[in-house]
Amino acid sequence: MSRVSEKQKTVKNSKVIAISNQKGGVGKTTTCVNLGIGLVRAGKKVLLVEADAQGSLTVSLGIPEPDKLDVTLVNILEKVINDEEVEPGESILHHEEGIDFIPANIELAGLETALVNIMSRETVMRQFLQEMRQQYDYILIDCMPSLGMITINALVAADYVLVPVEAAYLPVKGLQQLIKTIGNIHRKLNPSLEILIGFWVFICQPGDQYLIV
Ligand SMILES: Nc1ncnc2c1ncn2[C@@H]1O[C@H](COP(=O)(O)OP(=O)(O)OP(=O)(O)O)[C@@H](O)[C@H]1O
Ligand SMILES: [Mg+2]
Repeated sequence: MSRVSEKQKTVKNSKVIAISNQKGGVGKTTTCVNLGIGLVRAGKKVLLVEADAQGSLTVSLGIPEPDKLDVTLVNILEKVINDEEVEPGESILHHEEGIDFIPANIELAGLETALVNIMSRETVMRQFLQEMRQQYDYILIDCMPSLGMITINALVAADYVLVPVEAAYLPVKGLQQLIKTIGNIHRKLNPSLEILIGFWVFICQPGDQYLIV
């Protein structure tokens, strides 16, 4: 792979979807894994990207101790920041269900802090994923439960944001901040960003009444 650049080199009609909600435990990772495997079964080439220092996606895909991994999303993003070569397939793992994924671990939390002082800090992930778009039909990013710099990077890299929501008063109220952030990113950094489906009411109890907006 050549050095990643801002140049758009998409050959496929690839779609990048960030799965995001700053509320924890609403089904982001579960949506990412199941949507990803569903798309693979529909014949699509799919890459999942773990953008969460908790490493839950990585664990879900069969790596019980993400913190022991030598190469993760952090190494890739550091190379982009330092304008170094990213080798083909570097850091990409393969799951037996036919899905590729880029793992992450606790080191991502350190990178989040370091990004604050870096030029073009919001576009580091986009620079990398623009290269990956050539190889995949869908790239799904499992975001962490925060609206920090890594999540902003994911939203800047994405065509769509999918927001799993728990059907309860406070979680829905908490969406206001996320909607504001998505609006800001749409206006200032990524005019192509769209909300996919609406809000994905994912966790609900039997008998709950809810509305998909
Ligand atoms: N549709 C569902 N209904 C009920 N429980 C669910 C559903 N989907 C996932 N869960 C459970 O909810 C918990 C949280 O799910 P998940 O890890 O996908 O959320 P998350 O938003 O990724 O969490 P985090 O914010 O910590 O990353 C898990 O224990 C999962 O098994
Ligand atoms: Mg998660």
